[in-house]
Amino acid sequence: MPRTCPTFFSFPADAPAQSAEAAAVISGLMSEAPSVSPKYLYGPLGSRLFDAITELPEYYPTRTERGLLEACRDSVARAAGPAPTLIDLGAGNCEKARSLFDALKPGQYVAVDISVDFLRHTLSQLQRDFPELEMLGIGADFSSGLRLPDAVRRDNRLFFYPGSSIGNFTPEQALTFLAGIRAQCAGAYGGGLLIGVDLIKPATLLQAAYDDALGVTAAFNLNLLNNLNALIGSNFAMGDWRHVALFNASASRIEMHLEARRDIEVRWPGGARSFRQGQRIHTENSYKYALADFKSLLTQAGFGRIQAWTDANDWFALCHATL
Ligand code: TRP
Repeated sequence: MPRTCPTFFSFPADAPAQSAEAAAVISGLMSEAPSVSPKYLYGPLGSRLFDAITELPEYYPTRTERGLLEACRDSVARAAGPAPTLIDLGAGNCEKARSLFDALKPGQYVAVDISVDFLRHTLSQLQRDFPELEMLGIGADFSSGLRLPDAVRRDNRLFFYPGSSIGNFTPEQALTFLAGIRAQCAGAYGGGLLIGVDLIKPATLLQAAYDDALGVTAAFNLNLLNNLNALIGSNFAMGDWRHVALFNASASRIEMHLEARRDIEVRWPGGARSFRQGQRIHTENSYKYALADFKSLLTQAGFGRIQAWTDANDWFALCHATL
């Protein structure tokens, strides 16, 4: 039976109440080293800006990973086995998973993303193009653990976590997250993980990828302040802040910050904070791995068999891991 509309779940029940979210944001802003959760980068505009980032000449990860997925899809399909339940974590525009449909022939496609309305839109488009494939959409923030509804098939789950989003966790958090995925492909049902990871490379290349000449990444990072204004009623003015991306070599991560261009007082109902010129709000990290270290992280998470593919420059790796 051809399908016209994917089944959609969203977990507002899991999301903390708006007041709790606002309180968490305010406490991050008030802290001595101010920070805000990167989840506020995403939303209707943020997801579109991120899409634009993936098209930038400086942003090599998407393009490189796309090339790897194309070159390796038959090996990936062999490794994944028949009719996998393809679970796309942070599906975004669903393009990467889509590129695997022909080779993988999934039994079910499950797209999970924090940006609910964006996902609803892209998934309905996709369902129109693939009316025979059963699709489920799940609007959820899985960063602190993934809970799947019963409608997600158990057989031969292939978790797909592309885009080096794993790098947005600290290595400790990444280990916990990976172990959680491993636990969900255990047992008689089989399953595995297909994951993309960005590798260590010269700092100039990394820095350009996170601070492009057009200023799209700057807009993406600054737009977080719009989202904060909507959430806590603050009066952040975009023009008062500057996007900063720097490679912290000792921590092996790109850090994203918003830096005050002048002394600023930000106000919201019930509170305020002043920022000195040059003071920064930390918004995101993107860890870069040596392939051997990433493989050992997968092993520590409980995966046994690991296959890895890299591009000719060794800029990015695609790994398939099973029990
Ligand atoms: N997963 C992406 C990455 O780490 C997210 C990202 C790309 C990002 N550019 C960004 C996050 C700029 C914050 C700011 O590569």
